[in-house]
Amino acid sequence: MEEKKVMLSGIQPSGDLHLGNYLGAIKNWGARAEEFECFYFMADMHTITVRQNPADLRRRTLEQLAQYIACGLDPEKNTLFIQSHVSAHAQLGWVLNCYTMFGELSRMTQFKDKSAKHKDNINGGLFTYPSLMAADILLYQPDFVPVGEDQKQHVELTRNIVQRFNGIYGDVFKMPQPYIPKAGARIMGLTAPEAKMSKSVPEGCVFLMEKPEDIARKFKRAVTDSDTERCVHFDPERKPGVSNLMNIYCAVTGKDRQAVEAEFSGQGYGAFKTAVGDAVVETLRPIREEAARILADKAYLEKVYTEGAQKASYVANKTLRKVYKKIGFVAR
Ligand code: TYM
Repeated sequence: MEEKKVMLSGIQPSGDLHLGNYLGAIKNWGARAEEFECFYFMADMHTITVRQNPADLRRRTLEQLAQYIACGLDPEKNTLFIQSHVSAHAQLGWVLNCYTMFGELSRMTQFKDKSAKHKDNINGGLFTYPSLMAADILLYQPDFVPVGEDQKQHVELTRNIVQRFNGIYGDVFKMPQPYIPKAGARIMGLTAPEAKMSKSVPEGCVFLMEKPEDIARKFKRAVTDSDTERCVHFDPERKPGVSNLMNIYCAVTGKDRQAVEAEFSGQGYGAFKTAVGDAVVETLRPIREEAARILADKAYLEKVYTEGAQKASYVANKTLRKVYKKIGFVAR
């Protein structure tokens, strides 16, 4: 029998999950378990590159796990785990640091953005974060890494590391590919559609666990464009606000852009914004309700992350042993 292809991804529990995380990443992970061997984790080690409140980090990590499951990731079919529970991530992260160039890390746009935002804490971890991310990926030898557009550069760097490492030691790592959705890869903020949706601008960000009335209100207030046409038409250059709403609508309903333009032809932006808000509310409602139910069952969550860490460690340690052997570390 042919072996299943492998898929892996993670999200930092540095804030509450939002619509960008859902449409750019998680939606693409779900319902794949029949086809792929899947590993999804809470990237808690990455979050400390920016200062975190410990109690909030702990709470959000568990909430994120409950939300993963509520989004349709069945723990029986997907390996769900907490990054810091699998020590191989830190171990391979160190090794890969030594195979990642200063110049490469300096070019990462996320490093440039975050160091501009957190001038008082430009720590080494923030700089070397992409080699830890490469370790997260390569430990599981995945074929595909489903992420939003903003993480593509880090996956490309991982590919460079694979080429460099395999060039020296032979075929140690499988070459991973970024897997980026057609609609939803880059969801922009509702209040400022020039920048991606992010928790740092909460008024323009829709959180998975938000109340339906708050979500509807955010969409009603979404910035549309000041062009004279005032018709629902996809044109990210001239109509960034409307185009972003179209992207969201396409991603949640599965409709294509032409169908959406036809559906709202002759209608103003107001009716369109309400329709997008309603579609998002209905998509998120079952997720919110299911996540709240799962979160109440702490024993179940503990069982899921404990078993997840066991399964993940088994696979990760196999790769780590291979790497250690290749680079000349004496076997224990
Ligand atoms: P993070 O935690 O910033 O984001 C998690 C996922 O959500 C996607 N995303 C978006 N997609 C569309 N529109 C948006 N506005 C939007 N905002 C976020 C991101 O592209 C990502 O897929 N370094 C990673 C976490 C990570 C990881 C990994 C991912 C650590 N190790 C290994 C994959 C494989 C990060 O900070 O993503």
